[in-house]
Amino acid sequence: MTPSFICEYPSDLSLKKLRQQFPVTGYKIYLNHAGCSPYSSYVKKALDDYIDESYGVVVEDYNKNLSVREDLRSLIARLINADPDHVGFVKNTSSGLSLLASGLEWHAGDRIILADCEFPSNIYPFLNLERQGVAVDFIPGRKKLNGFIDIDSIQSLITEKTRLISLSFVEFSNGYRNDLQAIGDLCKQYNLIFCVDGIQGIGSLPIDVQSCNIHFISCATHKWLMGPQGIAFIYIHPDLLNKIFMTQVGWLSVKGAWNFFDYRLDLLDDARRFEIGTENWLGIYGSLASVKLLMELGIENIEKHILQLTENLINGLTELGLKTISSTNDKHRSGIVSFVFPGSRHNRILKLFESLNQNKIITALRDNCIRISPHCYNTAEEMDLVIQAVKRFTESNQ
Ligand SMILES: Cc1ncc(COP(=O)(O)O)c(C=O)c1O
Repeated sequence: MTPSFICEYPSDLSLKKLRQQFPVTGYKIYLNHAGCSPYSSYVKKALDDYIDESYGVVVEDYNKNLSVREDLRSLIARLINADPDHVGFVKNTSSGLSLLASGLEWHAGDRIILADCEFPSNIYPFLNLERQGVAVDFIPGRKKLNGFIDIDSIQSLITEKTRLISLSFVEFSNGYRNDLQAIGDLCKQYNLIFCVDGIQGIGSLPIDVQSCNIHFISCATHKWLMGPQGIAFIYIHPDLLNKIFMTQVGWLSVKGAWNFFDYRLDLLDDARRFEIGTENWLGIYGSLASVKLLMELGIENIEKHILQLTENLINGLTELGLKTISSTNDKHRSGIVSFVFPGSRHNRILKLFESLNQNKIITALRDNCIRISPHCYNTAEEMDLVIQAVKRFTESNQ
């Protein structure tokens, strides 16, 4: 049951009304959701209410907390087409990926496939296995394919020693949306574990763990899921659960956790065993509010909206002579689009980034490119303002 203080969202939410729920729209054109999302008024209210209770007369309503956590678990499960028992909460994307990498049983000679264009959270947990004799093969996305990842280059790395592939849903620097379906099929064909870092896609693009044969996801909520920082969800395929050794356990990992002096290490039968101690309740409350909003809006609608905004940017900025380094193939597009000036030095793009900032247009600099990442409440008019600001810059900085 939904706790009463988390607001119900109007089902007729128009873009105008939606923008009113994001006060940041009154201050700037915020286009860095691939970095960190602003809080909506719904998230703020959920956090405020929790704080008011802790600050005031209630202090702690543990049963309510548990029920909010289970509501969030159910929503996340729906979002990715999984069973709620296969969803758990951890601190961040990195800790989720790390619990998988360090918990599987590895043998010297085992191999893992990663990509050379990934955010380091999806690299270090696997490189850390080198001392156990595990080797990493890198897909040469960055080196050879403009930061894109194709299926043939993955397939050519698979050997009989390969055990796992870990990739992002969406690549953080250029927004390349990996073909999870095709990669999942490949993993099925070769009997490989398929791990996905979901943080740059989930919340803005649909994902289905079942049809894509995904075994594991780790995904924090503060980017496209628009929740607070310091909380992430993991998804674990039921066949994988008992193959992950618990490198960390705590009092809440076990059945009968409240029988304090019954020290049997009898692990919970589901992904909740990874919630080893007291939860980040603020993270849980805030994420429930943000995920509810996104699901109310509909992930397919959000995807359509965002892809239209990024298409406007690609067209407008290309006309001004900028070069998009993101894929323009619909299958591989996402909420992230990145640009450079063709052939020019980093200095010029840095100046443009600063100039946009001065015009209260917030983007990010990644890999010597400007990365723009709009979300559900941004508008086509805002994209026009970005294009006009870039035009003014190019005219005055030839
Ligand atoms: C693809 C990707 N994975 C992981 C992270 C970091 O995740 P966390 O800080 O939740 O561990 C980021 C960015 O911050 C990212 O872009």
